[in-house]
Amino acid sequence: MIQLSPAAANEIQRLKLKQPQNVLFRLAIKPGGCSGWFYDMSFDETVKVSDRIFDLNGIRLVVDAESLKYIDGLTVDYSEDLMGGGFRFQNPQANAICGCGNSFDLHQDLLVNNQ
Ligand code: FES
Repeated sequence: MIQLSPAAANEIQRLKLKQPQNVLFRLAIKPGGCSGWFYDMSFDETVKVSDRIFDLNGIRLVVDAESLKYIDGLTVDYSEDLMGGGFRFQNPQANAICGCGNSFDLHQDLLVNNQ
């Protein structure tokens, strides 16, 4: 299960208003960032058979099956400070996170077991 805070849902809704109607919010993980993996957020009009769809705080969230293995339990929040706003991620499966919080490392045994 993934959780979106009300603040995160509001920000996604605000961004979504600039998109074509009926786009879905997609969350995935991709290799990269300072700690090996990063959270990739995008809007998408297509859903694959293997995707999971969550309805969270009014947001329809799409996650591919492979990414879900590594973000199950994730909480996404959004906050603003004097430097600007940003999404904040709390992933119980992360072994370590980078300084900005957008990149994370996974337990090696989790990667091996899911291959
Ligand atoms: S991705 Fe480099 S500090 Fe977060």
